[in-house]
Amino acid sequence: MRALITGALTLLAALPAAAQGQLNLYCSATIEWCQPIARGFERTTGIRVVLSQKSTGEMLAQLRAEARNPRGDVWWGGTGDPHVAAGEDGLTIAHESPRIAELHPWAQAQWRQTQGRTVGVYASVLGFGFNTELIARRGLPEPRCWADLLNPAYRGEIQMANPNSSGTAYIVIATLVQMMGEDQAFDYLKRLHGSINAYPRSGTAPITAVARGETALSISFVHNAAEERAAGFPVGHAVPCEGTGYEIGSMSIIRGARNMENARRFYDWALSAEAQQVASQEARKLQTMANARVPLTEGAPNMATARIIDYDNARFGASAERRRLLARWDQEVGALPR
Ligand code: F6P
Repeated sequence: MRALITGALTLLAALPAAAQGQLNLYCSATIEWCQPIARGFERTTGIRVVLSQKSTGEMLAQLRAEARNPRGDVWWGGTGDPHVAAGEDGLTIAHESPRIAELHPWAQAQWRQTQGRTVGVYASVLGFGFNTELIARRGLPEPRCWADLLNPAYRGEIQMANPNSSGTAYIVIATLVQMMGEDQAFDYLKRLHGSINAYPRSGTAPITAVARGETALSISFVHNAAEERAAGFPVGHAVPCEGTGYEIGSMSIIRGARNMENARRFYDWALSAEAQQVASQEARKLQTMANARVPLTEGAPNMATARIIDYDNARFGASAERRRLLARWDQEVGALPR
């Protein structure tokens, strides 16, 4: 009898999970963070999460391709510009979470500027990563400034991602355009091209290559470099001396989501301090979390002390501007021989 009751209780406990249905989560953070976010939501709600991970530019392309037949419910993580573009293209919808007031001003500003179509979930500063052992062995100086990267000694030693697929690399272009003016920024990128050994698809691939000693330097978010160092790799980082850009890692609900109720539930949950803390602790992520109650994880770069520009999210998130800058990069930089 007791076994029967225990069995029935087990079944009952399992039932709500099945009854809650499913959430199709599109994730543009690294898989090491996407997975704990998905599992955390499953644990809290009993809703089954089906996860798909891609770089931010690639996910925007997927949303565009699926516009008539959306397959994702929520797009979580990835740099802000493609989320802003998706909102402008009508691929995502507005949502007003009761948690908006708990967020840092930059996360709220992202939400307000897009009329509620995307919201900040974390932030991070753009900079350089370098393999301390490799640069010492090769007698290379540590890079401190954007200007340093043009040092001929770095020829063939630098990696940055491809801006068409990677939100990180698009922020590199947008940052330089804002700091130098567009023509000067493209001149700089052309000169830098001679020192680039590869443009991988994902924004984190260059720092992984630095950590493994496959390349000496990368243009990366500094939190990614700090994460590699915390994992035991000989990786240093620098915030460029002239100033730099940053990302507002974002989240949006996809228009036509098949599981709209679950999408809203996820959105509200993902903004909570609990969700952001658990995810950052489990995944050991070193971005600044959007919920102001979540303290910086030990070892995380502090945005407040970095010299960051007043990044123009509206301009560089605009679809037409994004297409124009990427086409210019393809033509004037990507197509050049190295
Ligand atoms: O999760 C790591 C991360 O650096 C995020 O901070 C960022 O939003 C994302 O990767 C960008 O990835 P990608 O450049 O591949 O679009």
